[in-house]
Amino acid sequence: MDKLVKRAADDIGNAGNVAALTGAGISVESGIPPFRGKGGIWEKIDPMEFAHIDTFMRDPVKVWDVLLKDMKEIIDKAKPNAAHLGLAKLEKMNKLKTIITQNVDGLHQMAGNTDVIEFHGNFAWQKCMKCGNRCETGKVDLSRIPPKCKCGGMFRPECVFFGEMIPPDYLARSQQAAARCDVMLVIGTSALVQPASYIPVIAKENGAKVIEINPERTPLTSRVSDYLVKGKAGDVVTDILAAMESS
Ligand code: OAD
Ligand code: ZN
Repeated sequence: MDKLVKRAADDIGNAGNVAALTGAGISVESGIPPFRGKGGIWEKIDPMEFAHIDTFMRDPVKVWDVLLKDMKEIIDKAKPNAAHLGLAKLEKMNKLKTIITQNVDGLHQMAGNTDVIEFHGNFAWQKCMKCGNRCETGKVDLSRIPPKCKCGGMFRPECVFFGEMIPPDYLARSQQAAARCDVMLVIGTSALVQPASYIPVIAKENGAKVIEINPERTPLTSRVSDYLVKGKAGDVVTDILAAMESS
């Protein structure tokens, strides 16, 4: 068995409170492309042009047509993979308490985790920019773009665009979860976007072990994380759970 898999299994086994920070990489095996790197969305389109709130306000049709419509189709089809399901199992084992996710795909909740902080919001709901009415994305009429509320206002997805603040209560709850945990799993994030990438630093400063799961190194590797278990999230999480069960 991989030494680091065993080490992660032991660290999680000994912990009373595990938290996880997840990013696009955990959903890659569910068929959702990441933002950066090979096959990433930002390789094809410029995030500052298509994922900035100013662009959305100026030209919502363009942002819906180029980014949001495709995202909706891909997310609609996606199902939790072994990594999401493994984290749900860790919650049932009473180890994992909170997931902080940068993803807007809702797959952690679908897998069964109950305390999920959607740091960058979610794509499951739309909010009217005029009256504040919320509507499930699946029930919004997308045959006309941008989708409109009964009041005539424009709907926007409940996700955080570049140039927008993280909802303050999400930020506060994430900081608390990071400060409280004894182990933080950092799975499938390039750790390049602030303030999410600061969450593991808070965990570390408060004495937690930080374990990264990623096929690649990130700016956290060696500086913040105690170690990196290299590999795909689904494989590594499955191996760690198997090691926990066999020990
Ligand atoms: P990125 O696309 O920046 O990074 C994806 C990470 O996942 C990389 O470190 C990859 O090495 C890793 N990865 C790829 N395949 C993997 C697999 N099968 N298993 C595990 N890891 C894998 O995604 P995020 O870090 O989530 O923000 O990006 C952060 C934010 O930037 C997003 O929330 C989004 C984006 O712009 C907003 O939209 C506000
Ligand atoms: Zn409205």
